Amino acid sequence: MESKVFITLLLVGLVIQTLAKPKGKSSKLPGFLKVCYRDSPDLNTCARESFESLEPRLMDGIPELYIPPMEPLRIPEIKMDQDSGAIYLHSVYKNVKISGISKHTLHNLSIVPSQLKFALAITFPTLKLESEYSIKGKIMMMPMLGDGNCEVELTNITMATELFGEEYTKNGAIHLRIKDIEVKYELENVHMQLDNLFNGDKALGQRMNDFLNENWKSLSDEVRPLMIKALVDILRASIDKLFEAFSYDELLPSLKM
Ligand SMILES: *[C@@H]1O[C@H](CO)[C@@H](O)[C@H](O)[C@H]1NC(C)=O
Ligand SMILES: *[C@@H]1O[C@H](CO)[C@@H](O)[C@H](O)[C@H]1NC(C)=O
Repeated sequence: MESKVFITLLLVGLVIQTLAKPKGKSSKLPGFLKVCYRDSPDLNTCARESFESLEPRLMDGIPELYIPPMEPLRIPEIKMDQDSGAIYLHSVYKNVKISGISKHTLHNLSIVPSQLKFALAITFPTLKLESEYSIKGKIMMMPMLGDGNCEVELTNITMATELFGEEYTKNGAIHLRIKDIEVKYELENVHMQLDNLFNGDKALGQRMNDFLNENWKSLSDEVRPLMIKALVDILRASIDKLFEAFSYDELLPSLKM
């Protein structure tokens, strides 16, 4: 058996739109939120119903719950630096717009209060990402250089997220904070188009786009850790604020209270 050692440098920098704190002195959960009890035998059914009743509002965002508008989801900036395997890249994506999030299918939503575990599995038939990009580096030994607009279309992407919380006390109330988030995803196809590669050399740019689209599978495995880190950071940004604003008993009260 041969063992390979990869020296991997993965860096993701994200600028996430921070939502203004909702108006009003004390944070109160919005009345439209269906409250679920953590010791109810119907917890998971309730959680699913609660999620489904929020879905129409997700499009425009729910500031009371620190959830940004989801259709489209806008991220001012994502930085990705990778130096591993066949990819050596410095890249910045600005004004990232992700559409297609509202058309999803929820497979699994489960809460295990004894482990403070929240699990969610969801499929998006298509997600379209549009942004300004700036890339410099090498992909599979080929130089890669460009800045302009890019578009990426992902087909049939299934994402499974598991979040583990831990308790701490703040102002006499028990709050949760994120101990760990695990994200996994599978996708069926990727199509991308990067405009203005190689200072606008159309022939070279087209060849690189063709190459990327033909090899998306192995490339997507290479960038997977980076993508997962980006997804985790996006989720963290909202959930941390939600957990900080509302105590555990407010978010998931006990029937015995
Ligand atoms: C749903 O999530 C729970 C908790 O992670 C897991 O035990 C279960 O297998 C999942 N079910 C499906 C259908 O994915
Ligand atoms: C989407 O991908 C999953 C595997 O991740 C597969 O089971 C399913 O059939 C695919 N759906 C479509 C509509 O292609």
